[in-house]
Amino acid sequence: MEITDNFETIEVTTDLLILGGGMAACGAAFEAAHWAKKHNLKVTLVDKAAMDRSGAVAMGLSAINQYIGLKTGENTLQDYVDYVKNDLMGIVRDDLVANIARHVDSSVHLFEKWGLPIWKDEQGNYVNEGRWQIMINGESYKTIVAEAAKNALAELGKNGEYYEKVFITGPLMDGNRCAGAVGFSVRENKFYVFKAKSVLAAMGGTVHVFKPRSVGEGLGRSWYPPFNSGASTYFTLKAGAEMTCQEIRFVPVRFKDAYGPVGAWFLLFKAKATNAMGEDYMETRADELNNWLPYGKVKPTPANLRNYLMMLEVNEGKHPIYMRTDEAIREIVKKAEDEKTAKRTLKKLENEAWEDFLDMTVSQALLWASTNVKPEEQPSEIAACEPYFIGSHSGGSGAWVSGPEDLAPQEYRWDFPNMTTVQGLFAAGDASGASSHKFSSGSFTEGRIAAKAAISFCVDFPDIPSISPTAVEEIKAEIFKPLETYSKFKDYSIDPNINPNFVKPKMFMFRLQKIMDEYAGGVSNAFRTSKPLLEKGLELLRFMREDVEKLAAEDTHELMRCWENIHRIWQAESHIRTILFREETRWPGYYFRTDFPKMKEEWKCFANCRWNPETGDWEMKKREIIDLID
Ligand code: FAD
Ligand code: ADX
Repeated sequence: MEITDNFETIEVTTDLLILGGGMAACGAAFEAAHWAKKHNLKVTLVDKAAMDRSGAVAMGLSAINQYIGLKTGENTLQDYVDYVKNDLMGIVRDDLVANIARHVDSSVHLFEKWGLPIWKDEQGNYVNEGRWQIMINGESYKTIVAEAAKNALAELGKNGEYYEKVFITGPLMDGNRCAGAVGFSVRENKFYVFKAKSVLAAMGGTVHVFKPRSVGEGLGRSWYPPFNSGASTYFTLKAGAEMTCQEIRFVPVRFKDAYGPVGAWFLLFKAKATNAMGEDYMETRADELNNWLPYGKVKPTPANLRNYLMMLEVNEGKHPIYMRTDEAIREIVKKAEDEKTAKRTLKKLENEAWEDFLDMTVSQALLWASTNVKPEEQPSEIAACEPYFIGSHSGGSGAWVSGPEDLAPQEYRWDFPNMTTVQGLFAAGDASGASSHKFSSGSFTEGRIAAKAAISFCVDFPDIPSISPTAVEEIKAEIFKPLETYSKFKDYSIDPNINPNFVKPKMFMFRLQKIMDEYAGGVSNAFRTSKPLLEKGLELLRFMREDVEKLAAEDTHELMRCWENIHRIWQAESHIRTILFREETRWPGYYFRTDFPKMKEEWKCFANCRWNPETGDWEMKKREIIDLID
């Protein structure tokens, strides 16, 4: 009896298949339901977790980071495109950013209608955190959005369905057309074959590719959620899609060790960050910004440059770096007219400070409580986290997608909006690249845009792609192989985690993280790397790829961990290859090429890559930056 015989094959045929259940996928389900009803089409969503609490918004959020305020005329589309482009040192697609920005406000209004509490001032206006960010009581943000998505699917009756706790391993292909996806349940012995006319990849970004700062008892505490492990990158790469900005990782600066958000402190409370001696490095190191013009002098200073100035302090041993919460609170309270108002203001600020963490990073509140921190009395340490891949935040990695008909130039538009270079395969949220700063609201909005287009694709291409049953059987055997490996060799040693015949996924992940940390510019190497280091890293990754064969799993949960690591390796390799290709330093606070320490005009372009499914080779290419709005 084969191991695969233990797993029942469930075949699901649908029209639009949405992969993931996060912000982009929920937006997609909501929008797709509307258009699917009109055309009598079926929509199926698959999430590895439970939609109510899955993805980056699982714990909740304390702000919506993209709200333009177009109706009130506060800001224009051009303002937002400029902001995003400057923050990414010139490397974004104007058409994609503008397309999301022109629709995002209406998504936010829907969230409010569905019950999300948004802070209001006395005049009933939203309370801004910064120019683009609005404050929310967002502990239940994801539950509210997931409920709306599920309700929309329910409206379709038998034509709307969702599967939870089903882990997607990879794509099903019919030539250059994406024909569906395969995966398995992490709770039941079931292998899933989803056949679809169009597929939307929205499985988030990638964490734990680099060695995290939190190891040992803290392992799993990272800024980015430990559940998003590179499925979007793997899926799109494996399908043969062209990828973009794979070198643009995000290194957030966060409250140290529990990774609490800093936005409310910097923007709402106007706090300053200083070195250990109390010096504001944004002032004392302002001259350094002249080396990164024109972006060094834009306002706000790009996230990676803010990081860089801080990293220079650390390199000179001037850390710990502190968020001066105490000073910020004192400054605000000082403005109160009388003592009674001052007291009330202090109480309000205290509440807001704690709620900021309780809404989205509960562990930071716990750390403050357990280390007796009173933010109104003492500063708190901040630090640069390990790198993550999150194209929807301040990174940029993801699939190269077709732009909107009315905005994109010909070079950026080859088919339906948000379709990758693979027929029938769409991407949104962290899965689509070069359109940074979408955040929760923009990812939801992009999901809507992509789903509408993916439904149009189903209407135009009504045939169900063909999939060879032999290919499916081969894929099934490959997916479950780690279970077979474990059962075959488990009795060779006493310790289930140590065995010369196999490697457990956790050990495998540690090895990957060590390679990336030391060779690709992780925390231990102060985010620095170079050609020789990257080439050595690639060589070591080749050995790791060989060891994929030896991955072993005791149960389906561990099987998921195996596949998460297979996904991570692809993210890692595309990252190293693209850093290597781009011979300059453009985002010094994300990674620094010691052999090319400056930014170069000739590299003001996209660095794209593609894994060729026919040859197995990687292809690298430059793509032009076309300014649409100036
Ligand atoms: P996610 O929402 O992360 O969803 C990914 C989905 O894919 C999940 O449902 C996951 O379970 C699923 N998935 C993953 N792998 C698989 C697989 N193999 N098979 C099936 N399903 C899979 N934005 C704001 O607006 N305001 C904020 O304050 C803010 N704070 C943030 C704080 C943190 C710590 C982080 C990480 C992000 C924050 N963001 C914030 C950004 C926002 O959360 C993201 O931009 C947004 O969630 C991206 O949407 P997404 O759908 O691409 O990914
Ligand atoms: S979040 O990812 O958890 O939401 P955080 O709360 O730190 O991050 O930041 C939220 C928003 O504030 C993001 O849009 C970020 O770019 C912006 N931001 C944070 N710090 C600064 C700063 N010092 N200057 C300008 N913008 C900032």
